[in-house]
Amino acid sequence: MDHFAYRSRSLYCENIPVAQLAERYGTPLYIYSKATLVHHLHQIQEAFKEVEPLICYSVKTNGNVALCKVMAEHGSGFDVTSGGELHRALLAGGKGEKIVFAGVGKTDAEFRYALDNNVSLFNVESEQELHALGHVAKSMGKVASVALRVNPDLPPKTHAKTDTSVKGVKFGLDIETVLDVAKGILGNPGVKVIGLHMHLGSPILSAEPYRMGVAKALDLIARLREQGHPISVMNMGGGFGIHYRKQEAQPAKAFAEVIVPAVKQAKCKLVLEPGRFVVGNAGLLLSRVIYTKESGGKHFIIQDAAMNDLIRPTLYDSFHRVWPAEPSAEFPNLPEDYEMDVPGGLKVDVVGPVCESGDFLAKGRSLPPMKRGDLLATFSAGAYGMSMSSNYNSRVRAAEVLVDGETSKLIRRRETYQDLVGPELEAMALPN
Ligand code: LLP
Repeated sequence: MDHFAYRSRSLYCENIPVAQLAERYGTPLYIYSKATLVHHLHQIQEAFKEVEPLICYSVKTNGNVALCKVMAEHGSGFDVTSGGELHRALLAGGKGEKIVFAGVGKTDAEFRYALDNNVSLFNVESEQELHALGHVAKSMGKVASVALRVNPDLPPKTHAKTDTSVKGVKFGLDIETVLDVAKGILGNPGVKVIGLHMHLGSPILSAEPYRMGVAKALDLIARLREQGHPISVMNMGGGFGIHYRKQEAQPAKAFAEVIVPAVKQAKCKLVLEPGRFVVGNAGLLLSRVIYTKESGGKHFIIQDAAMNDLIRPTLYDSFHRVWPAEPSAEFPNLPEDYEMDVPGGLKVDVVGPVCESGDFLAKGRSLPPMKRGDLLATFSAGAYGMSMSSNYNSRVRAAEVLVDGETSKLIRRRETYQDLVGPELEAMALPN
């Protein structure tokens, strides 16, 4: 469910035509629907409410401070993976007791920053990290609470670049070694192992991997307790998938049905770190057609959003629905199936201005004929869109706008050429 819908052949975000937003803020433009964002957070809160989980919105998915503020206002904590993300979470009103810190390469400076702000849980991924954290915490007169991140060694379940629980990836402690590592840390005055963490990968379209994951977690929790670790937290990470093509995703309750009984059995506090499920379908990328052309027997729509704005299609071969914001009367408002040919449509590649053949948003798509100036919407772009954007080709980053009913608010202004070169000019002005 989202709040992007066509009315009288015009795409609306909540109660505002996106064409109006394009006029006001320019393109390319990330447009977010507050109602959709909150709706998806509520779905998770509702599905898991029986065990009163700590839901920590995953900042890496979309760290815009205004969006994080909405999350905090609606009861969410934060999952951060760098000092920069922690800074965002704190700016948004996040409190240390509802923040968890993940990532394979946390530095001593990041430990200090997090401990200074009383971050409640460190998801630790290696033996060295455990000792480094203990050292820093002890030097600050603190004890860091730790969840050991385990790689449960499950079968492949998503794109190889985003599957984090198969053997041989950099994430987590090997399931065979976790007990030895845990034993070695007993008695360390700087760390207290209070939990187990698993993030299985992203996006996951079935509850089955979680079923396998929690079974392994239950076993490990029992063994860690036998060793003397007071395990009270089970952190199952994020990973819940969303609809990109059709209605392929599971509702939150499908995951809850598998995770909740295990949490009850383990008598643990549940932590979840959802990102995509919350924000993915709450955002779209609006762009304007610059040119159309035919080359080598193919049709191209060249529009003003590029791989630097949304890298997912070229990085993971991800599918995003693409459709005109104002389709003409001969075409459906929204096709039933975006992978089918639409009558009267043209097979096109939707590409951007960046100088790489890999710069595309969609390939071989059947779309209504489009002309210069037309607006195109790329859907399901709220997650890992803006947060993975870059300045490649010295393109300024897009603006972001948040819609709430009839009102819209710019939540990130479009970058300027001065933003591009500012850090270089500042450095050049410094003495050698
Ligand atoms: N927790 C941890 C430890 C994670 O590494 C991630 C995502 C999440 C939670 C949130 O996962 P989510 O609920 O959003 O699935 N750039 C890729 C996805 C990378 C995911 C990285 N980790 C993409 O665009 O598909």
